[in-house]
Amino acid sequence: MHSYSLIAPAKINLYLEIIGDRPDGYHELVMILQSIGLVDQIDVRSISTDSIRIHCNHPQVPTDKSNLAYRAAELMAMQFPQAFAQYGGVEISINKQIPVAAGLAGGSTNAAAVLVGIDLLWKLGLTQSELEELGGTLGSDVPFCVAGGTAIATGRGEQLSPLPSLDNIYILLAKYRSLEVSTAWAYKTYQEQFGHSYIRDSENLAARANAVHSGAIVKAVVNKDVGEIAQKLHNDLERVVLPAYPQVLQLREVFANQEGVLGTMMSGSGPTVFALFESQQQAELVLRQVRESILDEDLELFVTRTITHGIKVASSV
Ligand code: C5P
Repeated sequence: MHSYSLIAPAKINLYLEIIGDRPDGYHELVMILQSIGLVDQIDVRSISTDSIRIHCNHPQVPTDKSNLAYRAAELMAMQFPQAFAQYGGVEISINKQIPVAAGLAGGSTNAAAVLVGIDLLWKLGLTQSELEELGGTLGSDVPFCVAGGTAIATGRGEQLSPLPSLDNIYILLAKYRSLEVSTAWAYKTYQEQFGHSYIRDSENLAARANAVHSGAIVKAVVNKDVGEIAQKLHNDLERVVLPAYPQVLQLREVFANQEGVLGTMMSGSGPTVFALFESQQQAELVLRQVRESILDEDLELFVTRTITHGIKVASSV
């Protein structure tokens, strides 16, 4: 096979709690991550030169080293120099549907797809946990993007415990096209404002992570109780992003006041806001109502649903 076409799903955070900071400058987190049916398509193929090339249909996506997908290919070339020499360079085409800098792990899932694609192209036979470990060196969300489904993520977000998969929960996503929030800014601002309340000792950090593991939202996920999940949605980063971005706050408020919305929250560091529904019809109805109440061409709205997989091979030639 000389080329693989991969499906790379976005994620939302059903839960994001910041419990402390870390010597490496990152934050100690407890999250519940969920794959969703909004996906990019990544085509990976061998080329005869020894270069890494990226093409993308989205003008805002860089095609150089600042693209995490490029760094994923570079990492594979560095880790497996013999395979790189044998198979040559890699051309990566990204068909982007996931909004950029949105809190939906769009960049991370593209990188995860490149790891999986190159593993297949170069016949490396890496296990999922080896791919996840490589992914963790690229970004905190990359391991989850490899695995997908529903999972608790701790540490920087790279340590995963799978949860029973949630399928067929319907989701409405809203994002202003031109609005981007820097993840680094969100965490830094949170630390400046709320760092005094961080747990500092490792015993209590572990106890807090365990309390979330056995807490209400995880129970609701295990019971597949959508109403209860929606009631227990949580994201600490809303405390800094909502006051700084009135448009995101407005979306949260508009969503919260619509009939049929079981719960609403910002995903990751934002600015995407999502709402959960029991049916696709309800989600589509609210999409139309929001479209009528916020007359702004810049606002993108998508109806999707929870899915049970991460990176998947769509085809190979
Ligand atoms: O790991 P990733 O590159 O996605 O993280 C982006 C930025 O978000 C980091 O540079 C860091 O500032 C912040 N971050 C953090 N703690 C985490 C994850 C991310 O402080 N657990």
